[in-house]
Amino acid sequence: MSTKKLKIGIIGTGGIARSHLRAYLNQPDVEIVAGADIVPGKAEAFFAGTVGAGAWGQESALTENKALEGVRCYDDHAAMLEAEALDAVSVCTYNTAHAVCAVNALNKGIHVLLEKPMCVTAEEAVAICKAEKESGKVLSIGFQPRFDVNMRMIKRIVDSGALGKVYYIQTGGGRRRGIPGSTFIEKDTGGIGALGDIGCYSLDMVLNAIGYPKPLTVTGYISDFFGKNPKYYDESDRFSVDDFGAAFIRLENDVIIDFRISWAIHADTPGDTLILGTDGGLRIPSTDCWNGSVGGPMTLYHDVAGERTETKIPLLKNDPAKGDLWNQKIRSFLDACKNGTASPIPSAQILINQVIIDGIVRSAALGKEIEIQVPEI
Ligand SMILES: NC(=O)c1ccc[n+]([C@@H]2O[C@H](COP(=O)([O-])OP(=O)(O)OC[C@H]3O[C@@H](n4cnc5c(N)ncnc54)[C@H](O)[C@@H]3O)[C@@H](O)[C@H]2O)c1
Repeated sequence: MSTKKLKIGIIGTGGIARSHLRAYLNQPDVEIVAGADIVPGKAEAFFAGTVGAGAWGQESALTENKALEGVRCYDDHAAMLEAEALDAVSVCTYNTAHAVCAVNALNKGIHVLLEKPMCVTAEEAVAICKAEKESGKVLSIGFQPRFDVNMRMIKRIVDSGALGKVYYIQTGGGRRRGIPGSTFIEKDTGGIGALGDIGCYSLDMVLNAIGYPKPLTVTGYISDFFGKNPKYYDESDRFSVDDFGAAFIRLENDVIIDFRISWAIHADTPGDTLILGTDGGLRIPSTDCWNGSVGGPMTLYHDVAGERTETKIPLLKNDPAKGDLWNQKIRSFLDACKNGTASPIPSAQILINQVIIDGIVRSAALGKEIEIQVPEI
């Protein structure tokens, strides 16, 4: 296994599949053999290099303007899984198709790199995790911000004990106006809106930092005042998901998360992230376009020899030798597949992320606080 090239398939050849393909083509030990998209001809066009700005060749990735030759294309991912002897697939479909494609691939004994959010509902997340467990294959979820050195710094600060016992977290972020289009805005395809698109990143940032404790209760709120309003959004007739979400989440170990996320609001930002502990507090600046990146130097608030002190933590540079975050996301997945090591972004953690999102949606629909449980897999 370690010397032969891994045979890769791509399910869903839309926007983000390009980033997967580019990163795969930077790896010496993979061969892209197949792709599937439910839109007839879309996979063929994708590998012919005619979709979007980039064009590629399997040997000379990103430089030569030529098609990726020899890739077999399918309109049905199940047919591809049946016909091809694949080692691994990237699932790059819109959110509502994540579960069926991931489960089918795992059931065929194929490793899966699944785009974020893991899926739409907690029920789907459980089905994916069960399929993973039964298959014994690698399932990694596409949270590439995990590889960012600044994201890692947040976890290092918490793990160092500098904050003491963490008891309250304010997190989220988002855009004043930045509703995406395409398949993101309809229930049938996106399933969930800002909550799933960018909310999952905010939750992952802080939950990963504190070791993903289980959630106990959630009071959730979602709205669609901008997406549904033609004054603010051109495709309002199509819009059927949330453009803003907020929640008050109680976790095990006496931790509270106060969360808010926006694709659109009448404010510059719904706020920075604050992690408050008994010995220190950490402010993590938000960005204009919250997509899982740290927006500037972090500040550590702590007392030093009895004096209230602020320590600035400058933004760190990622090591260029490791390639960009996409490279690291793909490489870490491939290494786990080849070496039989643990998934770099484990489903057991992201299941918690998804159960919280599911809880926010259900609590918002009921208009009251609900208990949430993370099922045993
Ligand atoms: N990690 C990141 O930074 C990042 C960035 C953008 C998007 N994403 C995620 O990637 C996913 C896709 O986003 P996108 O922008 O590429 O969307 P997209 O709509 O451009 O592409 C999705 C493609 O999947 C295809 N598809 C849907 N169901 C399918 C099925 N059952 N079998 C085969 N193909 C199917 C669609 O026809 C479409 O071509 C989303 O879940 C999104 O949240 C991740």
